[in-house]
Amino acid sequence: MRVDMTGRVALVTGSGRGIGRAIADRLAAEGASVVYSDVTAPDDALTDQRHMALALDVTDEHAIADAIAAILARYGKLDIAVNNAGIGTKPGERLTIDKVTTAQWDQLLKIDLGGVFLVSRAVAAPMIAQGYGRIINIASVLGLVPMRLQSAYVAAKAGVVNLTKSMAIELAQHGITVNAIAPGSTATDGWRSWINDATSEEQELHGRLMSHIPMGRPAETAEIAHAALFLADPDSAYITGQILAVDGGWVVGFARDF
Ligand SMILES: NC(=O)c1ccc[n+]([C@@H]2O[C@H](COP(=O)([O-])OP(=O)(O)OC[C@H]3O[C@@H](n4cnc5c(N)ncnc54)[C@H](O)[C@@H]3O)[C@@H](O)[C@H]2O)c1
Repeated sequence: MRVDMTGRVALVTGSGRGIGRAIADRLAAEGASVVYSDVTAPDDALTDQRHMALALDVTDEHAIADAIAAILARYGKLDIAVNNAGIGTKPGERLTIDKVTTAQWDQLLKIDLGGVFLVSRAVAAPMIAQGYGRIINIASVLGLVPMRLQSAYVAAKAGVVNLTKSMAIELAQHGITVNAIAPGSTATDGWRSWINDATSEEQELHGRLMSHIPMGRPAETAEIAHAALFLADPDSAYITGQILAVDGGWVVGFARDF
């Protein structure tokens, strides 16, 4: 799919690596001016002078305000915001609800849900003023269909799902669409190094997970980026409040016989 994004300005949070980097690079490849942002500015991403790199911790509302001000000072507008920054629950930290610590819960909710709120609030004002916007939230299939031992992540991503719908109905009148992507298991670089070093027990666990997914494989980051480009397309103007699962069929049902 080709989309002419020339002249569009896009902010992608957490685009230092992984899914966020793939989305940012794809928007850039289609002609957008891309603001790469992460906890520390991902300067290595700058391949063209029309882009910029910023430090933007999504839990820090002052850093967010500074980032938006810098974007508006440079480009005079912000068309697309991709709320991608997030953390998951590492295999060693997966616990039943009676053992989840308050610190774990708070950190996950603060980054994965609070970050979407803070950044969306900050970008909504200039988007309302310009009468145009595309907000794309990276949720997860676990926000639609929970998995055991990840209750904070599941709750945060379910929150992102309903926050997406809530913002969509508020912002539609301003020409702003708000949608989410719910990726399934995605083969980021982090995932690849994990799978390379995984113990046989972890490999077996992973194999079992894959056997539940109709496609039987994880997504490539480019496949998530493709969906983001579709939602960012100016022609996707009548699509809002939708949660697009890009998951190889995960949420549709088990690919198993019982
Ligand atoms: N990889 C998967 O299988 C998968 C599946 C479903 C959903 N997701 C979601 O996709 C998004 C990206 O995940 P990924 O797999 O690319 O992860 P990743 O760890 O490779 O990249 C996440 C990026 O977010 C950044 N980040 C973390 N906390 C931040 C903060 N407070 N402020 C700004 N940036 C911050 C990290 O520095 C990192 O660069 C996340 O929201 C994640 O929950 C991933």
